[in-house]
Amino acid sequence: MNIVNVDYDGLIPNNVGLGTDVRVKRALEKWHPGYINWWNDMGPEGFQESLVYLRTAVSVDPKGWAKFDYVKMPDYRWGILLAPQLQGRKIPFGKHKGEDAWQEVPGEYRAMLRRLIVIQGDTEPASVEQQRYLGKTAPSLYDMRNLFQVNVEEGRHLWAMVYLLQKYFGTDGREEAEALLQRRSGDADTPRMLGAFNEKTPDWLSFFMFTYFTDRDGKMQLEALAQSGFDPLSRTCRFMLTEEAHHMFVGETGVTRVVQRTCDAMKEAGITDPNDIARVRKLGVIDLPTLQKKANMHFSLTLDLFGNEISTNAANAYHAGIKGRFREDRLQDDHQLKGGTYPVLRLKDGKIQSEDAPALSALNMRLRDDYVVDCNLGIGRWNKVIEAAGIPFKITLPHVAFHRHIGEFAGIHADTSGKQLSDAEWEKQKGDYLPSDGDRDYIESLMKPETEPGKFASWIAPPKVGIDNKPGEFEYVKIA
Ligand SMILES: [Fe+2]
Ligand SMILES: [Fe+2]
Repeated sequence: MNIVNVDYDGLIPNNVGLGTDVRVKRALEKWHPGYINWWNDMGPEGFQESLVYLRTAVSVDPKGWAKFDYVKMPDYRWGILLAPQLQGRKIPFGKHKGEDAWQEVPGEYRAMLRRLIVIQGDTEPASVEQQRYLGKTAPSLYDMRNLFQVNVEEGRHLWAMVYLLQKYFGTDGREEAEALLQRRSGDADTPRMLGAFNEKTPDWLSFFMFTYFTDRDGKMQLEALAQSGFDPLSRTCRFMLTEEAHHMFVGETGVTRVVQRTCDAMKEAGITDPNDIARVRKLGVIDLPTLQKKANMHFSLTLDLFGNEISTNAANAYHAGIKGRFREDRLQDDHQLKGGTYPVLRLKDGKIQSEDAPALSALNMRLRDDYVVDCNLGIGRWNKVIEAAGIPFKITLPHVAFHRHIGEFAGIHADTSGKQLSDAEWEKQKGDYLPSDGDRDYIESLMKPETEPGKFASWIAPPKVGIDNKPGEFEYVKIA
């Protein structure tokens, strides 16, 4: 059963034996035209005829799973790829810990599983919709190609979730699969399910911040689902994580290159004060305080995706063996959280303070904490660039109570250090912490496309290495 190679013979590439699974094959072939219509309507605007140098998964072997070639995006081979089944895999946590992993949906957890799969699935097309106009202002062909790579893979992640719905959930799975093609990011009547996926991604700095912060939430959710006792979900998520790594690479290196360009330009111009925003902007680069504000915004919006700090849903999903902790398999405890506690930041008597809560109820908080640790790693690398340039500035993450709409701190205002503010103080100060209209206008003014191979817009440095080791002047997108 160790299927590593992918069958590319049929309409839908797969390594799940679709050729002999007539019912699911038919259901997916029926869903396919609707997907292509969705892609043509809501995918990258203006580039559907262009040839893009994309990677396509040809195997699920971690040592060599992708091949690169020029493809028109609508012809991309979206497929269904699961990581190889591990023989004898057991449910790693919860009340069924140690039992054989489920190969079919356990009846008692059917509704819970379907809900988790639909929520995960909904984020995938949402991000494609959010990013659909960015190709027109790409700062280079290299960046344009990376955007499109992320987009086609988010499309594939939709396929991954739709496969689970079609294969394991019968009629209501089919209905959910249809509904995933009907909702639209930011639509007043039929929005996507989660807040951050209804925000706009209007410019490339937003795109890099989104792939850094929000795709990283995706990574955390996939990591938690990769631990699932429902084996097909686990295997699907494990393969998605290999693709997800590239999305965060795009975000992390994207911001690094913006920081690099800003620091280089400041040095050349002899500007040492990072807060001399007017002078820095005259150089056609993005000043560091504005980068900080963008980070504040994307981080805080993404924290909301982790839900309430104390959550019965999260406790139930863990107890059931459906959704685990980040890297559950590397943690050393009873994997059932009997009697354990976990410190949770809460609003108590009007103050933000830590309080021990039952570990089982605090799983969202714990995943969020793991996320914050993960976020800080890349920010350390951004700061190294600033430090090497000798500029006295440090990018930091805001306090978790800052600018929240879900959870303990949704009802208060706090500054980026966690100090509570009155409504009036917040109104007066928020422009210091979040991008103002002026900041947005300035960033927008920089969004001029650069489509000559090897050239980059004024506000971003070239990458250190090309994709697939291609040289600097490689034509990553042949624009049609
Ligand atoms: Fe994804
Ligand atoms: Fe992603």
